[in-house]
Amino acid sequence: MKISVIGAGYVGLTTAACLAQIGHDVFCGESDIEKLHTLQAGVMPFFEPHLEDVIADSRKSGRLTFGSTEEAIEWGQAIFICVGTPPLGNGDADLSAIEVVARMIAKRAVGYRLIVEKSTVPVQTGAQLRKHLAVHRTQKLDYDVASNPEFLREGTSVEDFLHPDRIVVGVESQRATDLLREIYLPVIDQKIVCPIHSECPQRKAPRFLVTDTNSSELIKHASNSFLAMKISFINMVSDLCEAAGADISKVAEGIGLDPRIGSSFLQPGIGFGGFCFPKDLQAFVRIAEKFGCDFALLKEVERINQSRVDLLVEKIKKELWVLRNKKICVWGLAFKPNTDDVRFAPALSIIRRLLAEGAHIQAYDPEAMDKARKEIPEVAYCQDVYEAARGAEAIVLLTEWEEFRKVDWTHLSTVVERALIIDGRNTLSRDDVTTHGFQYVGIGGVSGAPQMSAILANG
Ligand code: UDX
Repeated sequence: MKISVIGAGYVGLTTAACLAQIGHDVFCGESDIEKLHTLQAGVMPFFEPHLEDVIADSRKSGRLTFGSTEEAIEWGQAIFICVGTPPLGNGDADLSAIEVVARMIAKRAVGYRLIVEKSTVPVQTGAQLRKHLAVHRTQKLDYDVASNPEFLREGTSVEDFLHPDRIVVGVESQRATDLLREIYLPVIDQKIVCPIHSECPQRKAPRFLVTDTNSSELIKHASNSFLAMKISFINMVSDLCEAAGADISKVAEGIGLDPRIGSSFLQPGIGFGGFCFPKDLQAFVRIAEKFGCDFALLKEVERINQSRVDLLVEKIKKELWVLRNKKICVWGLAFKPNTDDVRFAPALSIIRRLLAEGAHIQAYDPEAMDKARKEIPEVAYCQDVYEAARGAEAIVLLTEWEEFRKVDWTHLSTVVERALIIDGRNTLSRDDVTTHGFQYVGIGGVSGAPQMSAILANG
């Protein structure tokens, strides 16, 4: 099918590339001229595993083209809107980019179009789009508006697109349902040439869930908010474990064995970041407010998440006492591993706090240093883990890259000023680290006997 994707961000580029990979003829429109030229020159605007290869293959076979938004609108029978919906100052999602695209479609498109909102939007955006298109159409345009939220995690977005658990479509007509099913059929039947696995792991076929547009829009916000809630929950339990002398890794394992709870998203640490959870959570609270529902639960999830930065800074201060003029090594800047994305990364908030206290930061991240440098130029960005650790009073791990688990601890111990690891993601093995003479400080772990104050306080 001829398909257009508007917007070449994390979601749009993955969507365009993967739709081409499963056999469609895709035109991806991008309004940022510089970014468009970068893509046309075959250069990736960000790091995402496998995406570069999928794009290169699809372009070579002629199934993927990059061009202007106007050209994209004229191309596809289905138009996937993947433009950004960043947060406004009050937490609302900024829908202005969607409005601009809708107006362009209304003015330029002729004949039938299936207009699919893939960007994360508040409930009833589909209804607004329908009205807006009706008001502004000038040509003979016939259309359906559908919602098809993305559940793509950065770092595994190609895999998530090609091997999803579910494909949710919010539709108001049989024609839209049929077209979306046709588009996703290779994924539903798992008849794809997989660019990731030579033999794909056996998985259940994805569920193709058909709903109305309002419900589909809500599914997306509710899913991300629920996952964020799980993270804040386990982070609070981890604080309790630390105070009471329990081990959060065992507690999380024990909780997660209940299939009603599940073991994923129970990793404690410095909190969630990235461009989805923080903004979607705020937006969901605002949406609820507009409909008269006080979602105080989610406000607390956000408050707990923000307090994780304070918690880690306090842990560092507890060990180092005065931070002024001390060299602190930071491993990891991205909001999570396997991405170069530093948007709303807790690592950057922590670094800003340490710099404000007068510390000198030496940082290393395998992918995110270019982006972090633009945000915080005062940091010394280093070539590798060892250079970042040279002369440091503490190594603070803020993103759980695989590389950090494979360091040569013996060599590392010769370059640091003080052998201290503060593991903000509980990703290192305490035994590995301590046998090489390092002191290990984790999150929510057993640090010896339960603190007497906690035992007394609890009777
Ligand atoms: C998320 C959703 O998972 C995806 O479905 C959606 O469409 C886009 O937003 P993403 O932002 O890429 O994906 O990251 P995700 O893997 O969900 O992690 C989000 C944040 O939570 C990261 O900062 C991560 O470090 C943190 N996290 C995750 C934890 O702190 N603990 C966990 O147990 C899991």
